[in-house]
Amino acid sequence: MAKKKKYHLKKSAKVFLIILVLLGIASYFGYQRYQEYLYTKTQEYALLQLGYNEEQVKILKDNLNEEQISKVLTYEYNEFIPEFITKPYFMFKNLDGYLSQVITKDQDFFKYHGTDGYDYGKIIQSVNVHTINDFYEETHDTNLDDGYAILVNKYYKLDSSYIPDDLVSIPWKYRLGGENDQKQVRKEVYDAYLAMWESAYSEGIYLLVDSGFRTYKSQQEVYDMYAQRGIKYADSIAARPGFSEHQTGLSLDIYSKECASASKFKDSKTYAWLIQNAHKFGFILRYPENKEDITGYNYESWHYRYLGVELATKVYESGLTYDEYYAYYIEK
Ligand code: DAL
Ligand code: ZN
Repeated sequence: MAKKKKYHLKKSAKVFLIILVLLGIASYFGYQRYQEYLYTKTQEYALLQLGYNEEQVKILKDNLNEEQISKVLTYEYNEFIPEFITKPYFMFKNLDGYLSQVITKDQDFFKYHGTDGYDYGKIIQSVNVHTINDFYEETHDTNLDDGYAILVNKYYKLDSSYIPDDLVSIPWKYRLGGENDQKQVRKEVYDAYLAMWESAYSEGIYLLVDSGFRTYKSQQEVYDMYAQRGIKYADSIAARPGFSEHQTGLSLDIYSKECASASKFKDSKTYAWLIQNAHKFGFILRYPENKEDITGYNYESWHYRYLGVELATKVYESGLTYDEYYAYYIEK
């Protein structure tokens, strides 16, 4: 009797064990299927389904956040997206702009244009600073909330009535022109200029301001004067009214006792000093050489823009024009 009971227990234990093993196997495969199901819900899976290869998916995941990848997933497969996102100064908000400048790879196209492909960096730069549009073609209001960091160029304009409310006159000692001429600049810029003046003076350089604040109307006069020699010429030298940094009261045309000639200033000792030191006082050279396609102006070795010491130093160290710096680091 006792023997039989023992046999019974053994049998039910076996059944129990088999059920346990079966359950184990089922849940193992069930878990695997569930994991597979979960994977089909990931962005990585969706990107692969869309046509991106594993390398491209890695680039997308390493460089974009979830929200940005969700946006990419609303597009068709585009081989240029991974190309652009790894390039310096890529801005996701400008992705559509970058993509509008390329066509899906077509060997005939490249052969026809005698090139191996696109200059992605150049496209990024042009879209960021708006130069894919002609100068003055599509303009925006300057964001005055940016304070001393405001951008005024051929795409960002000031209202015709804009006049800073803290203008001060630059005494004759520090400027060119007649004793009774008015040359004005914003107060903080004046203080920075004086500090720079003293520093330059201590090294034997006598700075002189040629032009500071200009009203909309006086900028019109400056522009019209150059326009007598043609619009193209005028546009390479002077801003159209509303588009001049001089209207901000933050810009100064600076020469010196040593040299007050626009054509010779770039070779002067004063210029060499300014290039080394202006940022330490909050000023940057605003229209550098070889950046005409970005700034829209010929090289102006005399035109300095006040940004404050911290920002001017960052811009100086970046090697970027202020148009590029603003687009990438400041514009919201
Ligand atoms: N010469 C500079 C670009 C101006 O007119 O504002
Ligand atoms: Zn100027």
